[in-house]
Amino acid sequence: MIDSPYRQHLPVPASAPAVTLHEGNTPLLHSAYLSDVTRCDVWLKVEGANPTGSFKDRGMTVALTHAAADGAELVLCASTGNTSASAAAYAARAGIAAAVLIPEAGVAKGKLGQAVRYGARIVEIAGGFDDCLRIARDLAAHHPVALVNSVGNELRLAGQRTVAYEIVDVLGAAPDLHCLPVGNGGNITATWQGYRAYAGPSGLPRIWGFQASGADPFVRGEAVARPRTEASAIRVGSPATWEPALAARDESGGLIGSVTDDEIFQAYGLIARHDGVFAEPASAAGVAGLLKQHRAGAVPPGLRIVITLSGNGLKDPDASLRDGLASVHAGPESGSVARELGLR
Ligand code: F0G
Repeated sequence: MIDSPYRQHLPVPASAPAVTLHEGNTPLLHSAYLSDVTRCDVWLKVEGANPTGSFKDRGMTVALTHAAADGAELVLCASTGNTSASAAAYAARAGIAAAVLIPEAGVAKGKLGQAVRYGARIVEIAGGFDDCLRIARDLAAHHPVALVNSVGNELRLAGQRTVAYEIVDVLGAAPDLHCLPVGNGGNITATWQGYRAYAGPSGLPRIWGFQASGADPFVRGEAVARPRTEASAIRVGSPATWEPALAARDESGGLIGSVTDDEIFQAYGLIARHDGVFAEPASAAGVAGLLKQHRAGAVPPGLRIVITLSGNGLKDPDASLRDGLASVHAGPESGSVARELGLR
């Protein structure tokens, strides 16, 4: 992405060598299933196809290109898992050490495994994501480290805007409506800013963001002290990007709503089964939200809709097997397997 024509839209010095894993240019898939259900034209932006499996790579390539050009010795972030996986990978690529602060027992196994293998120093904090971010900001204020959370690093959001550029280029225009999951507020902010910068003032989409109902500070209008949701990526109670996220909602004439964990997990299953796209639970919040609004009669037919699927389902194997493994057992002969499969 940073080595693509979009580079001219990114705040990177022309002379800086790109720290890249060839992020971006992710599939925009038409969803026959969701189009049929909603009587709309629904597209899925599959951000799990990025090199570390989430949309975070779009911002991290920009942040690490700068960090490398500045001679940074240590990059630091707080994370519910995806930012840490991405920071660790791009730091490894740049030859810079990385340290990640994560909530104790709050990160999906696949993401943790990524941080381990990319060689990051991992600090599990006895607290939630909000504690991790508070500490990361404090450390960055007093020590020579490059903070690569989107707060304190506008470069991240600048990179994340490219998702909107790609959608406009593929569809030929912005959609009528864009649905996405909301945690810390960076994704909704960057997506809206991307459309505004690239699609021009006419034909901008409404932005509908969705939070888990146990972790929905934007919906309540205040921080949630103990955010709860099985969708661990968006278990954020005190979002750092507050005003710009609300601006994205209000300027676009959109909304930020909540969906229950049951609705999230139902949507998570539906897009895998009907569209063949395995996205992590938090990623399905946008799908759950669209279906909920549709049931409430708030989605007029005929709209062109894009939904961001923010991360790859492989990151969270526990979530995928939470209802058990629906398998049968057979002896090591084809006859036995044929019987189990009911083959005649
Ligand atoms: N979807 C996924 C898969 C995420 O990992 C995140 C955020 C979001 C959606 C929400 O985006 O925070 O910009 O509103 N993950 C952060 C992290 C918090 O640390 O990886 P947001």
